[in-house]
Amino acid sequence: MEVVYSQGNIQVVIGDITEEETDAIVNAANSTLLGGGGVDGAIHRKAGPQLKEECRTLGGCPTGEAKITKGYQLKAKYVIHTVGPVWRGGNAQEDELLASCYKNSLQIAKDHGIQSISFPAISTGVYGFPKKRAAEIAVKEVKRFLEDSQLLVRFVCFDQETAQFYLEVLKSNNH
Ligand code: AR6
Repeated sequence: MEVVYSQGNIQVVIGDITEEETDAIVNAANSTLLGGGGVDGAIHRKAGPQLKEECRTLGGCPTGEAKITKGYQLKAKYVIHTVGPVWRGGNAQEDELLASCYKNSLQIAKDHGIQSISFPAISTGVYGFPKKRAAEIAVKEVKRFLEDSQLLVRFVCFDQETAQFYLEVLKSNNH
């Protein structure tokens, strides 16, 4: 896990989110919450079958919302499952829905007394959300939340390109 940015309560790291030791990791799930590919598949594999058993009791999750489970075999105590929007060109409330994923995940963390959380780049894989635009939304929502919170937030990027977008956004003064 390589830390490429650290300022205040925000860090950007390159690595595998399933290795994170934060209190919670966020899963970029689908609305069934029953697993899938990408980061979702990796989290379920590492957490073990009990994670899916607990997810089955949750009755799915609408796009933009979030639900919490235990982390089972993961190092993280909790998994916060959120469902990002599928990119449909930008006029289908994608920005607002992605912002809601961050807001709702952060609110759940607060409600559970979580002190550190790791986010993947929600919606930027299979769901096709433009990566820079997604990083802008992620950083904006996290910075807004941190005005009133001591939470440690790690943006865990699976690839260098994604990390570069976070760095560009964090180092610009538009936020
Ligand atoms: N650690 C950190 N980031 C990862 C990891 C990992 N182990 N694996 C992938 N990523 P995606 P989405 C990055 O496709 O676009 C699933 O099937 C990946 O490089 O996982 O929200 C769900 O079940 C990308 O930057 O999620 C849904 O059906 C980011 O995580 C659908 O995919 C998100 O990519 C959700 O699509």
